Amino acid sequence: MTAKISDNMQKSPELIQGIVAGTCLPADVENDMLSLRPERLSEYVGQSEVVETLKIAIEAAKKRKEPLDHVLFHGPPGLGKTTLAHIIANEMGGTLTVTSGPALEKGGDLIGILTHLSRGDVLFVDEIHRLSKVVEEFLYPAMEDFAVDFVFDKGAHARSHRIRLERFCLVGATTRVGLLSSPLRDRFGIFRSLDFYRETELVQITRRSAALLDVAIDKAGSQELSRRSRGTPRIVNRLLKRVRDFAQVRADGAITEAIVNAALLLEGVDEKGLTDLDRRYLKTVIDFYDGGPVGIEAIAATLQEETDTLVDVVEPYLLKIGMILRTSSGRRAAHSAYLHLGYPFQKKLL
Ligand SMILES: Nc1ncnc2c1ncn2[C@@H]1O[C@H](COP(=O)(O)OP(=O)(O)O)[C@@H](O)[C@H]1O
Ligand SMILES: [Mg+2]
Repeated sequence: MTAKISDNMQKSPELIQGIVAGTCLPADVENDMLSLRPERLSEYVGQSEVVETLKIAIEAAKKRKEPLDHVLFHGPPGLGKTTLAHIIANEMGGTLTVTSGPALEKGGDLIGILTHLSRGDVLFVDEIHRLSKVVEEFLYPAMEDFAVDFVFDKGAHARSHRIRLERFCLVGATTRVGLLSSPLRDRFGIFRSLDFYRETELVQITRRSAALLDVAIDKAGSQELSRRSRGTPRIVNRLLKRVRDFAQVRADGAITEAIVNAALLLEGVDEKGLTDLDRRYLKTVIDFYDGGPVGIEAIAATLQEETDTLVDVVEPYLLKIGMILRTSSGRRAAHSAYLHLGYPFQKKLL
């Protein structure tokens, strides 16, 4: 960990502050991830509509010499929300401060951060759906009027003092936009959802990352890796590193399709890119609950996993590829899930 921090130190002092304060998510401070993270909008692969929206908004704000409107990103983990926050700060030429919903416990925590922002700085609040109600209330005037109301004393002696803030840009990220209160959601001028990446886009990301890691990968290898990365850049990068290790130890260092297959077999990633947890989820729905419909809490209890992990990490991709269906009475396994696990499928007469 020490080595990681000192390595990162040269890259971004703000991030170090975040690490020291314990406000960054572990996935965001991984050393290699940092160097693989695109720094400019022009390097950011895919999500073309999001990129176009940002390009226009950034250019317009720069022309008016104003900070960017507040931006909210929604989408499953690993699709590039944090990366976009870094890019916005880079493109706008502001300093980035990173924090997260659960790290801000009291109003004072937020006020401390806000009063240290300079004009045009970017404040990134990850997992913004996990902000406490109290902190959220401080955020409203900060976002709208660039001021915070600080209350001294209590009861009859209570006095409120308005502290003016510099005009900053708030970038929020959430995996669960449904949990955001509407007053908070409405205060973002720009709201964009990120979707899973197409295979061709993941191939581009694979090639870019392989070049940065200085490892050779052929066309078939990068396509196979992309097909098996659950539509997610973070997974592409993680698996690429595992495959690189395998290629270096068991072969001549170059990555081919055969190397990808062998390395991913070892990782427990199957031909559709599903992990052990994905398969256990599907088996639970089919074996324990007769294919569903079954509530998420019941699945979580059987699997002994957090409900949040299943909803944030496992389900979005299984829904995307149609292996599960969400109905008003719970989750159901689709025909393709039976096929994938090699189970016979009998259509239930509901
Ligand atoms: N559009 C993209 N182009 C290239 N690499 C990307 C892109 N989006 C994400 N990545 C890579 O995936 C990793 C995870 O992205 P991140 O922004 O941390 O995801 P999130 O914050 O949505 O969980 C980053 O470190 C980056 O290297
Ligand atoms: Mg993130």
